[in-house]
Amino acid sequence: MCATDVRRESGLITIEEHILGRQSAHPTATGSFSWLLSGITLAARIISAKVRRAGILDILGDAGESNIHGEQQQKLDVLANKTLELCLAYRGNVGIIASEELDEPTVLATGASGRYIVIFDPLDGSSNIDVNVSVGTIFSVLEREPAGFNHHDAVSDVLQPGHRQLAAGYIVYGSSTVLAYTVGEGLHMFTLDPSVGAFILANENVRMPETGKYFSVNEGNYNSFSPGIQRFLQWCKTEEAGPYSARYIGSLVADFHRTLLRGGIFLYPSTAKAPGGKLRLMYEANPIAFLAEQAGGEATDGRGRILEKIPTSLHERTPLIVGSPAEMERLNREMSQDS
Ligand code: AHG
Ligand code: MN
Ligand code: MN
Repeated sequence: MCATDVRRESGLITIEEHILGRQSAHPTATGSFSWLLSGITLAARIISAKVRRAGILDILGDAGESNIHGEQQQKLDVLANKTLELCLAYRGNVGIIASEELDEPTVLATGASGRYIVIFDPLDGSSNIDVNVSVGTIFSVLEREPAGFNHHDAVSDVLQPGHRQLAAGYIVYGSSTVLAYTVGEGLHMFTLDPSVGAFILANENVRMPETGKYFSVNEGNYNSFSPGIQRFLQWCKTEEAGPYSARYIGSLVADFHRTLLRGGIFLYPSTAKAPGGKLRLMYEANPIAFLAEQAGGEATDGRGRILEKIPTSLHERTPLIVGSPAEMERLNREMSQDS
């Protein structure tokens, strides 16, 4: 048995080793990319430690500021954002960062050294922080066009469709801290061992079940859903369909993590309050869609594939429906009857 197999047996494959080990499998999984990813895992470990002590440290509640979306920033939103900025700034190969909490992208480096773009939702599920419900971090990695190396129109560098992502992942700060990532050849999952401060390989090539028993949606918006969405949800509640069980945490990362492992469907469709959907394309829908497809799931905006949407602004919103093939097929059938 080779050394790696021995370590795998003993549960000692760290995420950095996993990336490097796949170097031959994917041009992106080079030392340079692994070094970038270690900036994200360092930030994740710091944020995880803060989230787990939030009640003790003075980091709960409002930060007293609003972000570009007019949402009240939580102290942990700001802290998580700052942590990611600092951890990525010293990687030397990140040229641009963009965040839900930053109005505009930040140019960290011009020239070839700044080849990567990292976009993130530093803390997803903010409304759940103060009530001790799982929250998360979502990230997406793109590559700068060489032509963009020296101009300062950072937004145009960032606005790439989701199928151009080199990598995507999330960290869910739940009963344990779990990191999932993909570089386009499968979805792999790691659990943080707080005793050694390392993300240890838990599941390789995770597959979303073909079908599941859960639907996940905020039914408070039911009356403003399209007829097709309403018909689908009514079907879920029939004996013929199961019925399905409803599960909704209100943190996208936690709701997606469950959908990924148990199957079923998550929906945040257009609503009266958010006619274009609530979730943001660049740092919520795109990374989640990349991960879902890598695990055999599907992700649409109700009309087309999320990863093919052409972004027009950094913080644009989109409806997001993501889940197992069986549920997505039934949903698409119901929605195709809408005018
Ligand atoms: P964020 O905390 O980054 O703003 O994201 C919150 C999002 C997402 O996590 C979740 O799926 C959704 O808001 C919940 O929205 P509702 O409270 O409207 O259901
Ligand atoms: Mn979010
Ligand atoms: Mn957020």
